[in-house]
Amino acid sequence: MSSTDLAVIILAAGKGTRMKSSTHKVLHPLAGHPMLMHLMDRLVPLSPSRKVVVVGAGKEQVENAVGDISEIVVQEPQLGTGHAVQVTRDALEGFDGNVLILYGDVPMLTEETLQAMVDARMGDTAASVVVLGFRPADTKAYGRLVVNGSGELEAIVEHKDASEEQRKIDLCNSGIMAVDGKELFTLLDLVSNDNASSEYYLTDIVEIARSRGLTCSVVEADEQEVMGINSRRELAEAEAVFQNRRRDWFMAEGVTLIDPNTVFFAHDTRVGRDVVIGPNVFFGPGVTIDDNVKIHSFSHLEGCTVHSGASVGPFARLRPNADIGEGAKIGNFVEIKKSTIEKDAKVSHLTYIGDARVGEGANIGAGTITCNYDGFNKFKTDIGKGAFIGSNTSLVAPVTIGDGAIVGAGSVVTKEVSADALAVTRASQKELGGWALKFRQNQKK
Ligand code: UD1
Ligand code: CA
Repeated sequence: MSSTDLAVIILAAGKGTRMKSSTHKVLHPLAGHPMLMHLMDRLVPLSPSRKVVVVGAGKEQVENAVGDISEIVVQEPQLGTGHAVQVTRDALEGFDGNVLILYGDVPMLTEETLQAMVDARMGDTAASVVVLGFRPADTKAYGRLVVNGSGELEAIVEHKDASEEQRKIDLCNSGIMAVDGKELFTLLDLVSNDNASSEYYLTDIVEIARSRGLTCSVVEADEQEVMGINSRRELAEAEAVFQNRRRDWFMAEGVTLIDPNTVFFAHDTRVGRDVVIGPNVFFGPGVTIDDNVKIHSFSHLEGCTVHSGASVGPFARLRPNADIGEGAKIGNFVEIKKSTIEKDAKVSHLTYIGDARVGEGANIGAGTITCNYDGFNKFKTDIGKGAFIGSNTSLVAPVTIGDGAIVGAGSVVTKEVSADALAVTRASQKELGGWALKFRQNQKK
């Protein structure tokens, strides 16, 4: 009986030298999320029973990132893609389901494509080896897929080993494969390194499978899905592909992007319907925007929630754990961190709110600062419902402003203000009549 169980092997032992980085290549972020995590996320709907990541140098980094959700196997030295899969033999001991082989530096695959590969491994027309092919504009040094008249895959020929005639084939190998787990290691045992690179090629298992009477087939994907990331330039290209996909998707879901090319989303940004996003807006990870929100231009949001009907920016910065209530207004040059701004409250200009609660309908005047940090610890500010904080106020935390209280402009508040009270802490105004005139006359003598 054939098992529908799935194991996934992610190859990531390559040196990644072209990134010129002390960070492992597969941990470089795309849309704020490591490439390897993008792959892991795509695997969730397939619910694989085993995940194995093959690493060379930088094992600790990869272990820190995915050690709790996958097994890590070290390939040392690196003798080719076939050898890289061979080193997972112990980790996959006794496994006889489908084995999906992915590359850690090919993170743009879609769930649909992965599902199509697994499907091609199952059913009546099942192939023992399913290879993901693509037709790039430029075939570069990709391996070529040799397909016969009945659409069966006969061989994969590496560019270096290919004849002139074979190099004309435009169907290329992405490297991604789905293989029958009962056959995989038997096939790999028969792979030699007798080729132009003296490496053990994973690709050789196709011809070996055919010689043993097994069938091999091709599933095709779009070039953008199988792009590999080897350099910072390619990382930026992948980022652009990701961003364009996301922009199109959000617009199709009812979000207005005034200038889509200047809005940057994170992998997990959530945006409701009838949201309008102005030009030059950046979303870091962990942002949720409810329906009917306006995010005006040049705003930067990360780790925050904006509830329906609220308005943010232009030039606003929402940092982690900012929670902006329904209908609230966050205006220009306002920074909010770890604070709840309740329904209909207004923080309209030039303000820093950190570690605070701003009650429903409260108004925070221009230039207000919560002084939340003494150099060692952070303290809370609590502003009641309907309170009015005059412009240029410093609220020295920990401090509480009661419901409906008013704080006079220019105050430095260090003590609790009772509900419905007026607190003014600035010096009272003096006037010396004619002083300015006399001063000027004295200067002229
Ligand atoms: C491989 C394919 C080629 C395909 C191309 C797509 C082989 C022999 N060739 O070529 O047909 O068109 O990918 O990009 O498979 N890796 C290891 N250990 C190793 C070698 C590689 O883990 O010993 C990993 C790398 O980290 C990388 C992936 O395998 O993620 C591919 O390796 P790479 O050296 O880029 O393969 P190519 O020679 O480009
Ligand atoms: Ca490569």
